[in-house]
Parts: sequence; C-alpha cells; structure tokens
Amino acid sequence: MQDFILITGGAGFIGANFVLRWMQTKTAPVINLDKLTYAGNLQNLASISGDAKHIFVKEDINDRSVVGRLFERYQPNAVIHFAAESHVDRSIHGPADFVQTNINGTFTLLEETRAYWSSLNTDERKRFRFVHVSTDEVYGSLNAGDPAFTEEHKYRPNSPYSASKAASDHLVRAYHHTYGLPTIITNCSNNYGPYQFPEKLIPLMLLNAINGKPLPVYGDGKNVRDWLYVEDHCDALMLVLEKGRVGETYNIGGWNERTNLDVVNAVCSILDESRPSGKPHNSLIEFVKDRPGHDRRYAIDATKIANELGWKPKETFETGIRRTVEWYLNNEQWVKGVLSGEYHNWISLQYVRK
Ligand code: NAD
Ligand code: DAU
Repeated sequence: MQDFILITGGAGFIGANFVLRWMQTKTAPVINLDKLTYAGNLQNLASISGDAKHIFVKEDINDRSVVGRLFERYQPNAVIHFAAESHVDRSIHGPADFVQTNINGTFTLLEETRAYWSSLNTDERKRFRFVHVSTDEVYGSLNAGDPAFTEEHKYRPNSPYSASKAASDHLVRAYHHTYGLPTIITNCSNNYGPYQFPEKLIPLMLLNAINGKPLPVYGDGKNVRDWLYVEDHCDALMLVLEKGRVGETYNIGGWNERTNLDVVNAVCSILDESRPSGKPHNSLIEFVKDRPGHDRRYAIDATKIANELGWKPKETFETGIRRTVEWYLNNEQWVKGVLSGEYHNWISLQYVRK
C-alpha cells in the first residue's frame, strides 16, 4: 500500500498552501478532509484539480464514522491537522462553532487516530505522526519589552478562539502522554500570503484599499503581531513532520514584529506604487472601536526549531508583503469568487454597526 497523508482543513488558507506545496515536492498522495465552511474554498486548489494524487473529501472532522472509514481505506502514515474555526472576531460573535470544531472535532480526530494507530504493527506505529497545527495565541498577550514566547511559556488564552485552540493542544498533549500517540504540536504566529480569506487584517486592508473603502484599524493600531509568510510556515511543518521529535512542541515565527499600523502602511505604500489612486491609500485609514479583549502583543521565539531542525524563514516582511500584494492584484478571479454572499454578511455584522 502506498503511503498516504491525511490533511484536515486543506481547503483553507494555510492548509491549501500546504497541500499545493506538498503536491509539488512530495510523492505521497494526500487525502484532504475539509467541511468547506465559509473559509474553505476549492478555488484554492484549482491548480491541482484532476490530479489523482489529491483526494478531496467534503466532510466534517466531527463525523466519527467518516474519519474512521478514511483511516481504514487509506491507511495514512501521518495526519496534519489544520481544520479549525480560525478568526478571533468571529469567535467573539459566536463561540459555539469554535468549541465544536476546535475542541470536539480535535477530540474526535484523536480518538479515531488512536483506534487506527493501535491497530498498526510496531514499525508502523513508530513511523506514524500526528502533527497538530496551533497558534501562538494560546500563550496570551505580551507587554512591550517582554521576552518572546518560548515553548515553555504558560498558557493564558484570552479569546474564545485561543481558548479552544489551547484546549485542543492539551488534548493532543494528553494523547501522547497517556496513550503514546506520536504527536507533535506547532504554535505559529500570524501568517499572510496567497489565498487568505479577507476577514483577516492583511487581505481585508488590501482589498478595501484597492476599492477605495475605509481601512478599519482597531483601537490605536499599536497592537503588535509577528508576521510569517505562509510558505515559510508550510516548510516548517514539513520539517517537523520529517524530523520533529515526538511529544515535543515547536514554536514557529517570522522574527517580524510589526504594529498593525505599520502593516497597513506597508500594504498602502506598495499599492501607491503599483495602483496609484491620486491620493495616498493610507488616507483611507479609520480608527474604529477596539476588539473586545484585544491581545496587545504576540512575539515568537523560534530558536528551538532553528537549532533542532535547521528551519528559518526565507521571506522578510518586506519581500513577503510585496509578494502577497502582487498575488492579490494578479488573481482577480479568485478575489471575485471570494467576495460573495457570506463575506458580505460578515462585513455588515462586524463593521457596519461600529
Ligand atoms: P482557515 O479558516 O483559512 O481554514 C480552516 C479550514 O478548516 C477551512 O478550509 C474550513 O472549511 C475547514 N474546517 C473548519 N471546520 C471544519 C470541520 N469541522 N471539519 C472539517 N474541516 C473544517 O484557517 P487557516 O488560517 O488556514 O488556519 C489553519 C490552522 O492553522 C488553524 O488550525 C489555525 O488555528 C492555525 N493557525 C493559523 C494561523 C494564521 O495566521 N492564519 C496562525 C497560526 C496557526
Ligand atoms: O497569531 C496567530 C493568529 O493570527 C491565528 O491563530 C489566527 O487564526 C489568525 O486569525 C491571526 O489572529 P489575529 O487576531 O492576530 O489576526 P487578524 O488578522 O484578525 O488581526 C490581526 C491584527 O489586526 C489584530 O491586532 C486585530 C487587527 N485588526 C484586524 C482586523 C480584521 C484590525 O485592526 N482591523 C481589522 O479589521
């Protein structure tokens, strides 16, 4: 039997980038299990449609029988778990889906993985990996001058989203500790790049600026995030899968701390060059009501993955943001497809009331 890899959430932003990169560089076929929520988009995978190495399954990770059948049929030797509700603001409006997918869904996936893994022979069990893709937000918020998050940092999640991801991390850790399941957890900083849904800061600002719409910056715009180009995250995950130590956590980050205002200004100044509109795009910035419980600063110390696995990001923020802006400008069809029904509902719920 050929080695399969099971990817959950592979039609979302990071999952799709990972699947595309995997298909370019690896031979093992991919089973892509994705429910296609508003955030899942098969257009992200259009370039591999029809490729027999990619098997797409539109189902929910909460459906135990579906997950069980996939294990039985394809006998994968690894799971990379991306599927999640991922947007903090949505978790504030409606946390239930976050609990259902991020906690219960991860639990279901772990249970079915454990059942399958227990049925393997000793060599296969040793070779098997469950990589859980998580976030730096589980560590809570830093003040200016605090050292960046290491893998030892206390968990202090502040939003329903980060609390649900923290819970899923704890479950994954427990399945290793109690059952010996060969899991690895990664906690990554803010990703940006192609195929990101425009509810998130960079694509939202970019598309609003192109269309002459206001750029809604929360609070004073001085919250800090650590930005990582999505391809660098995908490369790190592939290394973790190949060489990461079982039972460990690896923090992944870009060493690129920026305030939100710096990020928005960077997008605007690239657009001023490539799409001049007669006035600077950053004149569209509007300060709006802050996100409730808004974390002030995240910063990742990615020393462990650098020292152990030799990973470091290839893109700087300046090169990555330029590639990103160019991608959105050159992919009008994808953008048009995304800016449809559900997107408009979200924009009026989140921004019009403010
Ligand atoms: P995304 O919202 O773009 O994609 C999530 C994908 O999961 C979608 O394709 C969606 O259809 C699918 N999905 C959701 N619920 C599902 C369910 N119940 N069953 C099956 N599929 C389901 O998210 P993203 O930004 O690509 O993030 C992917 C993962 O990486 C998440 O676990 C997230 O917490 C983590 N992460 C994201 C970032 C970031 O900056 N975006 C940073 C660190 C970690
Ligand atoms: O840190 C990793 C996390 O990064 C991931 O786990 C999450 O899935 C991902 O969504 C992201 O969370 P953030 O909340 O940091 O990302 P977001 O793009 O929503 O916001 C980035 C910053 O920009 C944050 O400080 C809030 C601010 N912001 C965001 C939006 C959407 C604004 O000022 N205005 C906006 O309209």
